[in-house]
Amino acid sequence: MSTNEEIIGRADVHDIEAILAITNTDRNEVISAVEQNSEAIFTWDYTKGARPALDKLYEKAKVSMWNGETDLPWDTEVDQEKLVIMNAEQNEAAGMGFADFDVAGTSFEKWTDAQWIQLGIESQNWSLSQFMHGEQGALICTAKIVETVPWIDAKYYASTQVMDEARHVEVFAKYLDTKLSGYYPVNAHLKMLLDDIVSDPRWDMTYLGMQIMVEGLALAAFGFMHQMTTEPLLKQLLRYVMSDEARHVAFGVLSLQEYYADMSDAEMMERQEFAFEAAVRMRDRFLQQEVWERMDVPVSEAIELVMRTPTRQLFQMMLFSKIVPNCKKLGLLDRNDQWLRRRFEEIGVIQFEDWVDTADDYENFALGQELADPHGPTAATA
Ligand SMILES: [Fe+2]
Ligand SMILES: [Fe+2]
Repeated sequence: MSTNEEIIGRADVHDIEAILAITNTDRNEVISAVEQNSEAIFTWDYTKGARPALDKLYEKAKVSMWNGETDLPWDTEVDQEKLVIMNAEQNEAAGMGFADFDVAGTSFEKWTDAQWIQLGIESQNWSLSQFMHGEQGALICTAKIVETVPWIDAKYYASTQVMDEARHVEVFAKYLDTKLSGYYPVNAHLKMLLDDIVSDPRWDMTYLGMQIMVEGLALAAFGFMHQMTTEPLLKQLLRYVMSDEARHVAFGVLSLQEYYADMSDAEMMERQEFAFEAAVRMRDRFLQQEVWERMDVPVSEAIELVMRTPTRQLFQMMLFSKIVPNCKKLGLLDRNDQWLRRRFEEIGVIQFEDWVDTADDYENFALGQELADPHGPTAATA
């Protein structure tokens, strides 16, 4: 069993200085190369439908493709400044405002309205940039799964996901380029996680890191943003992306359920530790340290303030509302004396364990379905 230092590089998961010490050192590079030592696996067993749940998902994916160029209303005008104000008003009215922290005696005390609006704009540029980078991570991971997974039904399905992810990268990049006002390099915590996922030679670790952890979080985050935004193009873009993401998470759960069934405690322990590492990296990334740097405020002060904000805490926890039930379904929470359960308690997200898992509720995300409220335990985006 490894220690926190060995898994995440620090003893205390909540150590803000240690979190902020990790920064992106190659911001100006155009490419980033990651070593990977996995085996490409051919299979000579072409029996289609040997894994009926995966086959069903593959058939579903084939008829669920959309075209980011022609299916989205790209002629929609986006005024970011007005949007920040409108979103804030709507979210305030719904009791979900983010600007409810107490600024007395802090660097924010003398902020003008213009600075608060700029913060909203930067946050949006940052969020969409990170979504785009995460989507590229998914593109690379699923291309890798096509090579490394030994089952033909999984290779077929993963190939459809490669196409889905290409589309996701494409639409987020286009949105950033044509509707927003700036771009952020990949967040250092997110990149660390993506590198760890890509470099692990074991095929099931790609699934665990990407399909269960990164995509589980993305599904919750997209659901949140889909509900919060008043911008119709972004709303529709997210809705389309979510219809695919729900399938992707299901692909992870269905594949790993079978693979984990016969695993030893020692093997499960490695998966539990990897899930914990991924959870911490993703939580760290959402502190959006690069935004505070760009806004020229002391980063640790800003983060400490934001972390104490109740609505922000709720948002941070909600990000795990898909991941925790899926980990439970895979048996990851309770093996090895409830190791991962204890860690999830430590980061305050265990309360989602009995929410709906994503093995088979992807039908609820199909285009044309009304999405349920993301804040309830039985909700499709819960
Ligand atoms: Fe995606
Ligand atoms: Fe995905």
